[in-house]
Amino acid sequence: MEFKTIIEPFKIHSVAPIAMTTETQREGYIKSVGYNLFSLHSDDVLVDLLTDSGTGAMSRNQWAAIQHGDESYAGSPSWLIFQAAVHNLFPFEHVIPTHQGRAAEKILFTAIGGPGKVIPSNTHFDTTRANIEYSKAEAVDLVIAEGRDPSSLHPFKGNMDVIALEAFISATGVENIPVVMMTITNNSGGGQPVSLENLKAVSAICKKYGIPFFLDACRFAENAWFIREREAGQSERDVSDIVREIASLADGMTMSAKKDPLGNIGGWLAMNDDALASICRNLLILTEGFPTYGGLAGRDLEALAVGLTEVVSHDYLKYRIRSTAYLGNALSDMGIPVVLPIGGHAVYIDAKAFLPHIPALEYPGQSLAIELYKVGGVRGCEIGTVMFGRKPDGSEVPAAMELVRLAIPRRTYTQSHIDYVIEVCAEVANRASKFRSYKIVKEPAALRHFTAEFAPL
Ligand code: F0G
Repeated sequence: MEFKTIIEPFKIHSVAPIAMTTETQREGYIKSVGYNLFSLHSDDVLVDLLTDSGTGAMSRNQWAAIQHGDESYAGSPSWLIFQAAVHNLFPFEHVIPTHQGRAAEKILFTAIGGPGKVIPSNTHFDTTRANIEYSKAEAVDLVIAEGRDPSSLHPFKGNMDVIALEAFISATGVENIPVVMMTITNNSGGGQPVSLENLKAVSAICKKYGIPFFLDACRFAENAWFIREREAGQSERDVSDIVREIASLADGMTMSAKKDPLGNIGGWLAMNDDALASICRNLLILTEGFPTYGGLAGRDLEALAVGLTEVVSHDYLKYRIRSTAYLGNALSDMGIPVVLPIGGHAVYIDAKAFLPHIPALEYPGQSLAIELYKVGGVRGCEIGTVMFGRKPDGSEVPAAMELVRLAIPRRTYTQSHIDYVIEVCAEVANRASKFRSYKIVKEPAALRHFTAEFAPL
């Protein structure tokens, strides 16, 4: 007998307190930080859905592995344990450990980016785009049209538009494209998965033109679970097996181990190309550390090695994907517009549809995120014009979508926390027509969403 309720496949082993606050207190807190949710003290947040990055709970086996960590500068056994765990899923020739995903990106694009280069992806995550642009190369998003439509029910809305990719390659010239990237799952596009079929098609195009194909694989296990659930002929396969097949299609990868590898910190860069690996290792030594620990302590490498075995558990992934859908479907059922189908790590509220009275350049997503915090102490993240609107030439353009992401940390909140979030969203929906527009009063040159300050109009 299968019961309706899927219980968390773990029990709580250690707890962290949540301090209760009132709406009046929260109004003061958010105003005092210029209405930027990144600037809040996290003690003043009740349910923190800002990100699923590094915010998950480690297992007792991971904490035990931390104790086993060996901090030798070179050739630590912890490095070998980590490397073996990465190779078990991603058998790339060279594994280069970094302190997080963007450090891997910085090294990769320092090596292969630069003026005149253009790098396509389904959708580049913001740090990926920023690192490409910092190298003076250009980042281009070629996700399928359904991936830009919040209400389309396509099962693999993270897919690359392969016709557009081939046209892009002919127009740009193979010599100007150092790599084709694919973000799995597609975070900026709603946490939507990429199908195995699409990965194969992109891999084949890259082979045909002799262009390296790299994965941005932060949420590889969630993506593989969607493939198992949704793609024809995949339902009997082990997730690890699907992951290995995905890896076999690519020439390398960047990874933020703060997501599916279930770490609080970590990342890596991996590839088969010996010459490129040698350049990247030298850059690693310059900014991260020696190649057998990179940006990490031996204990972190060991915690990640254990996390990589836990994240591909079918019990875990079934719970993970169903619990994200539990929140998303509840919001959708009460008429709140969300990106459908519900993605893997987060629920994305469509702020453009939710707050039609606020124009894109008055930041509907920011307005909604502020209200979720004020009303219920729930911290989400704007993924819209605040995040993407400022172009390298200084102009401001509305983003393709105005979303508020409620990202769910792994193994951290229980169903009652999520039931509370659902109640908060219901109250926010009651008040939505009164929400205000915002203007930006202060912003940095790049990645403005982290530190910009706002004022209500
Ligand atoms: N690629 C993707 C798809 C990501 O989601 C992230 C981080 C990175 C790369 C960079 O990794 O943070 O370890 O340097 N995403 C976080 C988020 C920050 O909230 O979605 P990092």
